[in-house]
Amino acid sequence: MALLAGLVFGAGALVLPAAAAPVPSPTVVGGTQAAQGEFPFMVRLSMGCGGALYTPQIVLTAAHCVSGTGADTSITATLGVVDLNSASAITAQSTYVYQSPAFSGAENGNDWALIKLASPVSSDLVATLPITTSTAYDNGTFTIAGWGAATEGGDQQQYLLKATVPYVDDATCANAYPGLVTSASLCAGYVDQGGVDTCQGDSGGPMFRQDAAGRWIQVGIVSWGNGCARPGYPGVYTKVSTYAADIAAAAATL
Ligand code: ARG
Repeated sequence: MALLAGLVFGAGALVLPAAAAPVPSPTVVGGTQAAQGEFPFMVRLSMGCGGALYTPQIVLTAAHCVSGTGADTSITATLGVVDLNSASAITAQSTYVYQSPAFSGAENGNDWALIKLASPVSSDLVATLPITTSTAYDNGTFTIAGWGAATEGGDQQQYLLKATVPYVDDATCANAYPGLVTSASLCAGYVDQGGVDTCQGDSGGPMFRQDAAGRWIQVGIVSWGNGCARPGYPGVYTKVSTYAADIAAAAATL
């Protein structure tokens, strides 16, 4: 474990010589800063997770980010900004949380939940992110983004960062994670070299790519992994295509 973590941090040290000019501190391991407005569907949740705006009043996140189903006014959603401390930030309070009734731990799948906001968010700074309803986009290159740790064990971030990661096929991912529930999981990352990944605090946020029309579509929800960005261990994301019908049906009841 110490050796693997050393490789992650060691790689970072190689690209940050002592005399280098200051660079934006990356969130998402191996990431770069997102531009204001680039991903207007990104949501930061006050319990320390990410999310995506699914409808103007509903945030899609991970089941492991919430504690159950029912009335819940304890969560604050921050939207519309890459800088969480920006004066332009939009905040909305939760009223209700719906956790996948089948959830029993992220490794078992079903890692999705919906958070209803007190009122619909209407702002030019914000947009919804459609979810994929088919497996057609469960391949290729995915974009990940979040305010989570920039290194394994590191601090949460003020500025949204982003990265791209390639699809990892089920057999390769199950080789890294024996017993992986492949119907529930979509894996992504650089298996051989590591170095780019989501990390703690990115959970619940979307993994997305462009659809045939060039629009962003959500294919994954940040769920789990062994450490962050370790060689040999891709990130595991909730396979949205498996749960799209359940998500839509649940949202219709909120
Ligand atoms: N479970 C983590 C969270 O709650 C996300 C971990 C993602 N890990 C990874 N290696 N992709 O924030």
